Amino acid sequence: MTQKNDYSTRAHALIAQMTLDEKIGMIHGAHLFQTKGVERLGIPPLTMSDGPMGVRQNFEPDHWMTPEHQADQVTYLPCNSALASTWNRVLAHEMGSVLGEEARGRGKDVILAPGINIKRSPLCGRNFEYFSEDPYLTGELAAEFIDGVQKWDVAACVKHFAVNNQETRRLEVEADVDEETLRTVYLRAFHKAVEKGHSYSIMGAYNLLYGEHCCQSEFLLKKILREEWNYDGTVISDWGAVHDTKKAAESELDVEMSVTDNFNEYFLADPLKKAIESGEISEEAVDRKVEHILILMMRLHMLGGESRKGGAYNTPAHRQVALDVARQSIILLKNDNQVLPLHKDRLKKVLVIGENADRIHSNGGGSAEIKALYEVTSLLGIKTHVGGNAQVDYEPGYTSEKAEEKGQHGNVNWQQASLENGGGTTGKKAEENSALMHRQAQLREEALQKAKESYDAVIFVGGLNHDHDAEGNDRSDMKLPYGQDLLVEELLKIRKDMIVVLYAGSPVEMPWADQAGTIVWSYYAGLEGGDALADVLLGNVNPSGKLAETFYKDMNGCSAHAIGEFPGGDHVGYSERQLVGYRYNDTMHVDPLFCFGHGLSYTTFEYSTPQYREENGQSIISCRVRNTGNVSGNETVQVYSREDGAAVFQELAGFEKVYLSAGQECVAEVAVELEHEIRHERKVPVHFGIGSSSEDIRLII
Ligand code: BGC
Repeated sequence: MTQKNDYSTRAHALIAQMTLDEKIGMIHGAHLFQTKGVERLGIPPLTMSDGPMGVRQNFEPDHWMTPEHQADQVTYLPCNSALASTWNRVLAHEMGSVLGEEARGRGKDVILAPGINIKRSPLCGRNFEYFSEDPYLTGELAAEFIDGVQKWDVAACVKHFAVNNQETRRLEVEADVDEETLRTVYLRAFHKAVEKGHSYSIMGAYNLLYGEHCCQSEFLLKKILREEWNYDGTVISDWGAVHDTKKAAESELDVEMSVTDNFNEYFLADPLKKAIESGEISEEAVDRKVEHILILMMRLHMLGGESRKGGAYNTPAHRQVALDVARQSIILLKNDNQVLPLHKDRLKKVLVIGENADRIHSNGGGSAEIKALYEVTSLLGIKTHVGGNAQVDYEPGYTSEKAEEKGQHGNVNWQQASLENGGGTTGKKAEENSALMHRQAQLREEALQKAKESYDAVIFVGGLNHDHDAEGNDRSDMKLPYGQDLLVEELLKIRKDMIVVLYAGSPVEMPWADQAGTIVWSYYAGLEGGDALADVLLGNVNPSGKLAETFYKDMNGCSAHAIGEFPGGDHVGYSERQLVGYRYNDTMHVDPLFCFGHGLSYTTFEYSTPQYREENGQSIISCRVRNTGNVSGNETVQVYSREDGAAVFQELAGFEKVYLSAGQECVAEVAVELEHEIRHERKVPVHFGIGSSSEDIRLII
């Protein structure tokens, strides 16, 4: 008997002994993050926690307050956008493993991560929780991540299924996306998370698709997930995403969760019981859900007194993984005059400017917020790395104080209010406030005066924060807030060699990019982020991050805005179809500021001798890569497929990250995946472009 059948048989034996009340207790929240168990049968409750950047703090069972004395601080991990910039499958697995072990260490069964929605627009407030605009890159890394989580007897819960690409009115908006685009762009990574990552659970999205809310969708949950993908894992609703007892009961959703404390009134609680008792809904619908939950519990060794892995949190090894990921995630966007790396022994006086240099980011963003054990800011990282021989001065340069209206995050219980306003808004511009403008001008002036003094290096650290990159709120444009553009422009007039470092969860306009010789990008990079940045600035680490999303010049360079709609009204049109991210820019010749796959190094790599072979039905592209510079470094060899007659100019088909010491050479082997082959469709002539970014193609085969 296969394990799956075995699980089903065991589940049925348990279900046969359960009362209707007991079954219903298992399929809806009885706490904000927990369902009921059946103690007499040895079935424990299912305990869940957010989220992608670490295990979230504990909450009271029935309200959104965190109790005292929880000792629930954890390793704050780099966000998924940072992980994606590493283009490193091994690190994705290691980071998943840290999250899984910490979740077990905190007594959780399901970790509500990773978020793998496609980045359709740079304005989506939750982009920092997601990996990439590219479904192949997202799927490859997410599958590794999930496997890492689950080896700790904790279920990953891949989210939000599906087409949840915006926060504005996320509870009500219907994504008008054609089926081909849906499958090739928006479902592909989910498919891989299920098929290759074997995610034990999946979270349905808030929005609607084809007239149905995703958490009750027959098309998504039954036809695609259960029938086509053969999924026998547990489907959990997003918090408050269920709207109808009959539809939800008869759909393939298994667990209803929400943000309010009226647990017995949830659609899959008392209302369902009544409908079953009156014969309107069959009890079998409930049995099927309980079966899926029991299968998940068996996979996690939660039943029958089996031995289950123990976990741990805040270990030194976990902090090391967070540092490793952060180091490889930082992207050197520009280094025209080789200002970087800085030479520590030549630094006597350094000036750091910018509020983000001295600000922590772990405690914001919505459900991804983390109670971090600690967080090394960039200023702290720079100071500790530069050492006692150099003086490091600091000027804030700008302030984020009340500069913009905050989304729903002004109060502690934002999540309780998260079902209001259609579930999300678009950020509003701050009202002109003369006191604040005066304060910004004063801070700017102080920074400009300071920059005129003789410093060996001036480093600006700005960007966004979680008032902008936040659940429940999309940005209204790509501009840097708080007068930073003016500040950077003025500073660059004084110091042409200023190093601009930006921290954010989504790309921003950089109107001063031509004037800035050196630009470094970091996503929210976990508790060791500041150390990682200092390592890169000082050359202890050779940067190897590559953009996993296109950095548009402005939002008109993005297809969701140029062709499609964002954020739309009741409906949002996806008329750009498959031309998402670089697929649009490459095909339609729209130049971005920095292209998908871009990221510089302190060394250079030479590509040669491309070859193609097939091995056990797998296409493999290989080429020689040589480190032609003076320092060792990592290079991500990217392979793009170019199909004759396709609507899209090129698509990422494979990648491999290789490490080479100075002068060393290797053969990089890249297994490629062609989208049309997965779908067993037409075989067409394909060329492959091999290169260092989507624009820097070095070889064609
Ligand atoms: C978010 C989910 C999260 C859940 C529980 C919802 O608001 O969309 O991603 O896991 O809350 O906190």
